[in-house]
Amino acid sequence: RPAWRGIIEEYREFLPVSDGSPVITLREGGTPLFPAPILSDRTGCDVYLKIEGANPTGSFKDRGMTMAITKAVEEGAKAVICASTGNTSASAAAYAARAGLVCAVLVPQGKIALGKMAQALVYGAKLLQVSGNFDDCLQLASKLALEYPVSLVNSTNEYRLEGQKTASFEIVDALGDAPDAHFLPVGNAGNITAYWRGYVQAHEHGWATKRPVMRGFQAAGAAPLVSGEVVREPSTIATAIRIGNPASWTKAIAARDESGGAIEAVTDRQILAAYRLLARSEAVFVEPASAASVAGLLAASEAGTLERGQRVVCTVTGNGLKDPDWAISGAPAPRTVPVDAAVAAAELGLA
Ligand code: F0G
Repeated sequence: RPAWRGIIEEYREFLPVSDGSPVITLREGGTPLFPAPILSDRTGCDVYLKIEGANPTGSFKDRGMTMAITKAVEEGAKAVICASTGNTSASAAAYAARAGLVCAVLVPQGKIALGKMAQALVYGAKLLQVSGNFDDCLQLASKLALEYPVSLVNSTNEYRLEGQKTASFEIVDALGDAPDAHFLPVGNAGNITAYWRGYVQAHEHGWATKRPVMRGFQAAGAAPLVSGEVVREPSTIATAIRIGNPASWTKAIAARDESGGAIEAVTDRQILAAYRLLARSEAVFVEPASAASVAGLLAASEAGTLERGQRVVCTVTGNGLKDPDWAISGAPAPRTVPVDAAVAAAELGLA
């Protein structure tokens, strides 16, 4: 079996690249579609997790970034810029490093997870913390890209969405058809747009007999697509999706409506319960925002809006190691013991 070559080589005919495109890849994609027995049991559905934290920089952003950076190099760019809640910047910094491009990153001050900050810095990005939220960062990045010689690699860049749609292709490949329903977290709304595009194309090409119902979940304190109104001061512990004015707003609403789906809100409490359940029961450690899909699945099951017996995929978008502060602060502090078996056994409840 040949080694996985990254999403551009694997799905070349379905992506806007040509023979001359200078493919910049870190062998992203090809991520596990993992059966989730505990979630299946809880919901009466056949539940799978698409583990996007298994990508090279630990999130789904790598699928779009291989495309965006490949095209930036093809078009002669010397520098790229993005606004980010952390994952886009980690990914942009890595692909830019691989391509030898300068990478500039704007993040909301104090609101990105520690691991993501570490990634951008170690890959060599020029990082600025902006005293504002993600929406302010995106506005600033767009302005800089208009006025200075630097290409924007946020998901307003069409190539990003093209790359990200390949997750749906992989799911259809793995299952032999599309699932009945697809659950995913929604922030800037690029990913739900990209997945829907991928499923529509898989259906057009005859790889799938159907298209799934798309069910997106925003954090309750940052749910503009649920209320229909921009949220000026978005707030949630899931910093990756702390976004009040999503760039792909209209496209996400179209994906929702064309698929007969819904975009709903889950509370931080529901997100954290799903986060812990994923780690302790399914052994899948994700970052909090990623657990929004599973929080939504459980909420839908409890509310009776998820028919039993369906085949369901939940995307878990990012690796749990990205947000170590959250993981540690949510757990009891470990006790210190002397080098003494009796004491250790007593502490561990073995004795
Ligand atoms: N999950 C994670 C872990 C994310 O990092 C993001 C977005 C989403 C879900 C939502 O995806 O924006 O396509 O609806 N993160 C962006 C970033 C905003 O800057 O890393 P979306």
